[in-house]
Amino acid sequence: MDIALQRLLLGRDGRSAMLTGLRGVGKTVLLNEFELVAQGRGYFHEHIEVSEDGELPGRLASAFRRVLLAMDARCRLGDRARKALGVLKAFSIRIPNGPEVGVDVDAVSGPADSGDLPSDLAGLFVEMGEVARDHGTGVLVTIDELHYVDLRTLEALVVGVHRATQRMLPITIAGAGLPSLATLTGEAKSYAERMFRYPTIGSLSPQQSSDALTLPARDESVRWNDDAIVRVLEVTGGYPYFLQEFGKQAWDAADGPSEITLDDVERSLPAATAELDDGFFRVRIGRTSDAERAYLRAMAECGPGAVRSSDVAQVLGRKITALGPVRDGLMKKALCYSPRWGEIEFTVPMFDQFMKRWLPTFPA
Ligand SMILES: Nc1ncnc2c1ncn2[C@@H]1O[C@H](COP(=O)(O)OP(=O)(O)OP(=O)(O)O)[C@@H](O)[C@H]1O
Ligand SMILES: [Mg+2]
Repeated sequence: MDIALQRLLLGRDGRSAMLTGLRGVGKTVLLNEFELVAQGRGYFHEHIEVSEDGELPGRLASAFRRVLLAMDARCRLGDRARKALGVLKAFSIRIPNGPEVGVDVDAVSGPADSGDLPSDLAGLFVEMGEVARDHGTGVLVTIDELHYVDLRTLEALVVGVHRATQRMLPITIAGAGLPSLATLTGEAKSYAERMFRYPTIGSLSPQQSSDALTLPARDESVRWNDDAIVRVLEVTGGYPYFLQEFGKQAWDAADGPSEITLDDVERSLPAATAELDDGFFRVRIGRTSDAERAYLRAMAECGPGAVRSSDVAQVLGRKITALGPVRDGLMKKALCYSPRWGEIEFTVPMFDQFMKRWLPTFPA
């Protein structure tokens, strides 16, 4: 990322990143790191978190407004800032939920208010990129939970950034989201493949997992026994969020004073599992219907990882077509995604185990 940002400042092309992976693997943590990298290179940075409503253009316009105000304060843009704010204002008026840009700014018609989202976003990115370039700086917008954005808007975003990239302007985005984020089509897809790397963020390797447990403990002069580490790796599958929770509970359960043993880990497992069930897992099913819960439970019956929708239908004794709306609802809520045609998978690691704990007997 640092290299990409440096290259963009020099008027070259630089490939940014779209991080994809399941829940709790560290995507947001990495996006936050990008922010530090951007600041280190003198970039202006804004962060957007998309919510389930999928709204993006309004949030982007607000982010650009904040960037322009900050740039104006630091670089004294004067009239140039007013013009850019005017372009932004014209854009904001055209979109639903556009931010209030300010009554003292005159809307500048032309670059970003045609009503065609891809070309308007392109106009906006080019405008922002030119302002940044003329003042020896750059702009990075990080966008989290990007999978909530619908495909057409996502494609418009890619087209918009691409236009600025073609002109070698120092502006880019970095995104993060669930694995479904990788589904772009047509022209946008070929742009996106050149503009971004798509690293898959997953569970940590055994060595990394072990480091995640032992290094912070070492700072407190506490040692992890090898058997204890192996056991935590076994139950967490090396998923960062689980490592954190199981590690914490083992720490709390340990008799100490200077070692965490296998026995400590075994004693802490019920508490760690309960903690995850009550928090991490249960919030995910908070807003599901009975039919959706039954579907999730049937998925768990079909095993961990990706399962065939037809197998889920069979477990439920229903026709696959009849279950289409339930399946779509779960994907819209980002509880599941489809890794391949005809397959469905949980977006939360080890969710199958949770569903079995939560609804032990199935069918009920
Ligand atoms: N490399 C890492 N090593 C150790 N722990 C990590 C690492 N990355 C993330 N974590 C832990 O995992 C937790 C979850 O990370 P993060 O919130 O970034 O996940 P995420 O991929 O954004 O998940 P979600 O899809 O739910 O937003 C963090 O609070 C952090 O404690
Ligand atoms: Mg996140």
